[in-house]
Amino acid sequence: MTVQIITIDGPSGSGKGTLAAKIAAHYHFNLLDSGALYRLLGLLLFQKGLLNQIEAKLDQCIDYATHLDIEFKSNETATQVLLEGADVTNTIRTEQVGEYASKVATVPELRKALFQRQRAFIQHPGLVADGRDMATSIFPEAQAKLYLTASAESRAERRVKQLQGMGLDAKISDILSNIQARDKRDMEREVAPLKPAEDAYIIDSSTIGIDEVFKLMVDYIDSRI
Ligand code: DC
Repeated sequence: MTVQIITIDGPSGSGKGTLAAKIAAHYHFNLLDSGALYRLLGLLLFQKGLLNQIEAKLDQCIDYATHLDIEFKSNETATQVLLEGADVTNTIRTEQVGEYASKVATVPELRKALFQRQRAFIQHPGLVADGRDMATSIFPEAQAKLYLTASAESRAERRVKQLQGMGLDAKISDILSNIQARDKRDMEREVAPLKPAEDAYIIDSSTIGIDEVFKLMVDYIDSRI
């Protein structure tokens, strides 16, 4: 039986993460948060002192990417993320680690090293894959391809709330300029840039709430799988 694959791509703060989790729960599908893989690799290379010398020590970095020692432990309410046995669940969500991830994400060899790891998430009965290039590079065969976007301003507001909810301090102007800089880097990079697949269903969530986006997504997915 074919494993159903649903991809959800889009910029950070578009609500992708929340919606991908809701969609995965709705269909009882496996969930891949590919951004977490880039964040984990960015954090690891930082910890190993390699983040600023990726080009010079590329083979060593590829080796870390290929053998990334990570674990996602989920229960009904949350997912704990372990890197080399240490709990980094909150650490990987910080802006700083987002920057590390964005840097790692521009290196074609490291993206390649994470390819198989992402494909391994294809498991019965299906997969919801959340990222930037899920439909365009990693799972081009997906039955349903969604692209979720929102204005930079509305994404910055949501991100501030999310960080505050985690007890972290956040200033909207800093977050907005981070988002704009990261969008530019993600969209303009040569390898696997952020863009909708030709056959993607595009949803702009700037002015509509999560419940409405969820409904649009489910209607579309039900027509495809
Ligand atoms: O979605 P996120 O904010 O957790 O992603 C972190 C960084 O990783 C972001 O700058 C883009 C990059 N990324 C990527 O290049 N490809 C993916 N499939 C997922 C994330």
